[in-house]
Amino acid sequence: MRKPIIAGNWKMNKTAAEAVALINELKPLVLKSKPEVVICVPYTALWAAKDAIAGSKIKLGAENVAWADSGAFTGEISADMLIEAGVEFVIIGHSERRQYFGETDESVNMRLKQALKKGLKPIVCVGETLTEREKNKTKRVLKKQILDGFKDIAAEDFDNIVIAYEPVWAIGTGKTATAEDANKTIGYIRSLIKKTFGAEVAKNLRIQYGGSMKPSNAKELMAMRNIDGGLIGGAALKAGDFAAIVNYKD
Ligand code: PGA
Repeated sequence: MRKPIIAGNWKMNKTAAEAVALINELKPLVLKSKPEVVICVPYTALWAAKDAIAGSKIKLGAENVAWADSGAFTGEISADMLIEAGVEFVIIGHSERRQYFGETDESVNMRLKQALKKGLKPIVCVGETLTEREKNKTKRVLKKQILDGFKDIAAEDFDNIVIAYEPVWAIGTGKTATAEDANKTIGYIRSLIKKTFGAEVAKNLRIQYGGSMKPSNAKELMAMRNIDGGLIGGAALKAGDFAAIVNYKD
């Protein structure tokens, strides 16, 4: 059985002090959580968050990682820097990175390889835009993102990989894909993984849904066969909402 994984993506929100306050509010609410719980926080909050989550089940994630070990890459952050700050998970290829910062399937692939080499657990984001969806290109787009993004990745590496399917039109818009739709599309992603990396990998790989997931729709989404968790943006910034998603079964 695949263990569900609920990850918060804080994006560019919360100073270090604010992060500590949010974590302190969250900690008692997720003490008995059944899913794996991750919070991906801004770089400047990592060290403070590392201390604040001590003694809880919450795991720490970052929102990106450089493909190089070190060197002249102004504005980037290395895997070693993240690991030192207590990071276990890292989001790669979020649609906002693709949309605003020139991230491509090729750069996603380079970052992914580096994360795996350093022992970080990547949460790789894929998903179609509204225009692509309306033009019936969803499958084609996902296929390219998966084949190019996961180029030369070994089957055994998938033990440490999570995929997040986030339809771009559902991110921060309040529009959620219907649970059936999300399940079907994630099923397609799983079938692609099966074809490319084998049945065992596809069976064990955790694939999250992301895009306006909130307490009111978490249970329905999580009940779907192919959906193994959520990548949560807006609702991750409120302790009560995030905890309600984590505790969707209660
Ligand atoms: P949202 O963001 O939950 O605010 O839609 C999800 C994400 O971008 O990861």
